[in-house]
Amino acid sequence: MKNVRVMLGPRSYDICIGHNIINNLKDYLTNLSLGKKVALITNPKIKRLYGDGIYNQLTAAGLKPTIVELPAGERYKTLKSVNKIYDLLIKERFERNSAVIALGGGVIGDIAGFVAATYLRGVPYIQVPTSLVAQVDSSVGGKTGVNHHLGKNLIGAFYQPVLVWIDVEVLKTLPRRELIAGMAEVIKYGVIMNEGFFCFIEDNYKKVLALDQETLIKMVERSCEIKAGVVSADEQEKGLRAILNFGHTIGHAIETITDYKRYKHGEAVSIGMVFAAKMASRMGICDKEVYKRIDRVCRLIGLDTTLPDMEFKDMWEILQRDKKVVNEMVRFVVPLRLGEVKIIDDVDRDILQDTVQSCYNTNNFECPPN
Ligand SMILES: NC(=O)c1ccc[n+]([C@@H]2O[C@H](COP(=O)([O-])OP(=O)(O)OC[C@H]3O[C@@H](n4cnc5c(N)ncnc54)[C@H](O)[C@@H]3O)[C@@H](O)[C@H]2O)c1
Ligand SMILES: [Zn+2]
Repeated sequence: MKNVRVMLGPRSYDICIGHNIINNLKDYLTNLSLGKKVALITNPKIKRLYGDGIYNQLTAAGLKPTIVELPAGERYKTLKSVNKIYDLLIKERFERNSAVIALGGGVIGDIAGFVAATYLRGVPYIQVPTSLVAQVDSSVGGKTGVNHHLGKNLIGAFYQPVLVWIDVEVLKTLPRRELIAGMAEVIKYGVIMNEGFFCFIEDNYKKVLALDQETLIKMVERSCEIKAGVVSADEQEKGLRAILNFGHTIGHAIETITDYKRYKHGEAVSIGMVFAAKMASRMGICDKEVYKRIDRVCRLIGLDTTLPDMEFKDMWEILQRDKKVVNEMVRFVVPLRLGEVKIIDDVDRDILQDTVQSCYNTNNFECPPN
């Protein structure tokens, strides 16, 4: 089993990564000195697949689990679901040392984390992420929260788990499209921090897609290490952590324009990363090769990198509404080379429009996968 430590002083915690490690959870739990009561938060599908295994580990560790099932889906990432969990915790008289366990993808993790952050001003919580997005991204770093009807992730708190328990075996049941979408965030880590890791993905993407356990463990471990490093340096996104938004400026705009229906988050990020790199190369910030390699690896994995048809003025309007805008200049994370990015605050309308236009002129022709 691999271990990545997130260093945050007294709030430091371990991310344990392995294959078929569900059955070792009991031993680890005993070290955490939790109260007896635990709430296991999950959805019906994940419960059917993995609920018993975790439940048995909890009881074997001497804990008393209560299962809370939420319907699956982003549209249930709401205060209403949070309330449903509060009701149960209050009825069952959960105390300050009672724990919350999130068993599921990023939706379950974000909701359960927010409950843990706020119930009795904070109870311990454990993440058992089951989607690739959750394993490499959402379970690590302590951003918790839910959506508001006026916008995504508007209600939330920074609150760190006491443990993240990652079994890559569960990716076998994850729908293929979810696996591929999750790879966008993995590629992102290579671009922002580590060229060697980017090359690792280029060399090993076939093994990843074939769910080769050793490759998956290495990839998830490396991703968690990179995210943990960034979070340890800047827990509350006052500076460095913003580099994790590489690909997300245009990614979010695309998700908004298409009403969060057409693309999975990772799919939009893939388009956004290639766009940001292309724009950077047009601005002379990085070599054209950088953008071509990101585009190529995304496409080889099965991610679309084509900017969808949209009116530039709609995109511009959405970017203006975004928190990343100062004085009508848009903030972007752009690559300097593979493994190093910088944040630029002065992307103006002309540069953007010029890049959008070039995407429409060259879409699908410039860099065919091979
Ligand atoms: N907190 C953060 O830092 C952070 C970072 C990235 C994303 N997020 C949030 O995470 C959410 C997206 O997460 P997601 O992509 O995991 O979506 P998700 O939680 O909706 O999971 C995707 C689908 O896969 C299913 N699933 C999950 N694991 C499975 C498995 N092992 N086998 C079979 N099916 C499985 C789920 O039931 C769901 O239907 C969004 O709400 C996003 O805002 C948060
Ligand atoms: Zn993301």
